[in-house]
Amino acid sequence: MRAVALAAVLSGAASAGLAYDWAIPDWLPPPPVPGDVTMNDALVDLGRHLFYDQRLSADGSMSCASCHEQARAFTDGRAVSVGVTGQAGGFNAPSLANVGYLPTLTWANPMVDSLEFHALIPLFGEDPVEMGNAGLETALFARLMEDALYQDAFAAAFPDRPQADLYTITRALGAFQRTLISVGSPYDQFVYGGDRSAMTDAAVRGMDLFFDHRTECYHCHLGLNFTNNLVTSRSAMPETGFHNTGLGAEGGTSEFTLNPRDRGRFRTPTLRNVAVTAPYMHDGRFQTLEQVIRHYAAGGEAARLGQPDPLRDPLIVGFQITEAEIADLIAFLQSLTDEYFLTDPAFANPWPEGHLANGGDATPPETDPS
Ligand code: HEC
Ligand code: HEC
Repeated sequence: MRAVALAAVLSGAASAGLAYDWAIPDWLPPPPVPGDVTMNDALVDLGRHLFYDQRLSADGSMSCASCHEQARAFTDGRAVSVGVTGQAGGFNAPSLANVGYLPTLTWANPMVDSLEFHALIPLFGEDPVEMGNAGLETALFARLMEDALYQDAFAAAFPDRPQADLYTITRALGAFQRTLISVGSPYDQFVYGGDRSAMTDAAVRGMDLFFDHRTECYHCHLGLNFTNNLVTSRSAMPETGFHNTGLGAEGGTSEFTLNPRDRGRFRTPTLRNVAVTAPYMHDGRFQTLEQVIRHYAAGGEAARLGQPDPLRDPLIVGFQITEAEIADLIAFLQSLTDEYFLTDPAFANPWPEGHLANGGDATPPETDPS
């Protein structure tokens, strides 16, 4: 008896998601789930409706999906995102593929450690303003609860607390985002599925380059999500990696740690679906993968200009690369595009066309037939 009880306590937070059917391959451990969340279909479905609901913004013009579009692996195609007031933020919208496996969220802040906590930033943040609800919390919750669908959906997901509030909205959004798992690319079919025809010869050559000491790519972009930032339901310790890649960028992690040596450090992003997430880097400065590769080959901005760059990570070495090898490396990065993920109906907008959640006026008002 005691052993069973102890096991239940020890498994605690990490086990909360294990009963849920994640619909993922056997080799992949599910993402961790906070102790106060029980993953279930009602919660995920509510989160998906909220994610695609423009009423989540103060003026009804933007949903989370406005900046995180499924076809672009949940990015927005802009260098930096623009919120409801028209204010451009300082950052490129990151992909949400496998976001549940990230121990810290956002490009540079090592303190944002859960999807539930993170959701408050786009909803209520004031610098930059994204969805613009600061000080308008009560109006936001009331607006949502006017919809009969939400009255049912909140009751199904939170029987003890069937209303829109900070707790329920952030739990539901987090649960939906944890299901955004992308492991169906040609690379996965090749490596995990044993399908030797899934990748082109060029992509295989590019893979060898990527995992070679000459380029060092794999030292930072590694593991199931091609980043040294990883936590799973089986991790003893989350892995976090912030690096200065020689972009000559100001800010970064130092803004949060206040350590000047962290200047220009940013979290290593996933490379899954990277072919559809242009433009690139935390500030969207590069339009193409070729530009990114040339940046690394030069050893960064300062090295390109023949200047010293003491803060640059030692793994940004600079290297010789031929035009044919650049094409191969790009072919490899393209083999990380997961068409199933980009078109999976389970991740798509669940609202009918013309519904208020989509901004409303797509359907003309009903006319009197007489
Ligand atoms: C105006 C555009 C915009 C809207 C609207 C928006 N986001 Fe984002 N999102 C961004 C940008 C830009 C970042 C990167 C911010 C940073 O690094 O500081 C981001 C980061 C994130 C991250 C962190 C991803 C990572 O890899 O660290 C998550 C999760 C996320 N957004 C979820 C949401 C959710 C949920 C909503 C709706 C409640 C939402 N976003 C609304 C632009 C937006
Ligand atoms: C020292 C660690 C490190 C190494 C080595 C490294 N990267 Fe990166 N990579 C990063 C970080 C950190 C970023 C984000 C930098 C930023 O935006 O300031 C990044 C960004 C990228 C991006 C842009 C992704 C996006 O969503 O914007 C691509 C593509 C990329 N790296 C590919 C590569 C390739 C190819 C190599 C090898 C030639 C490589 N990286 C080597 C750490 C690294």
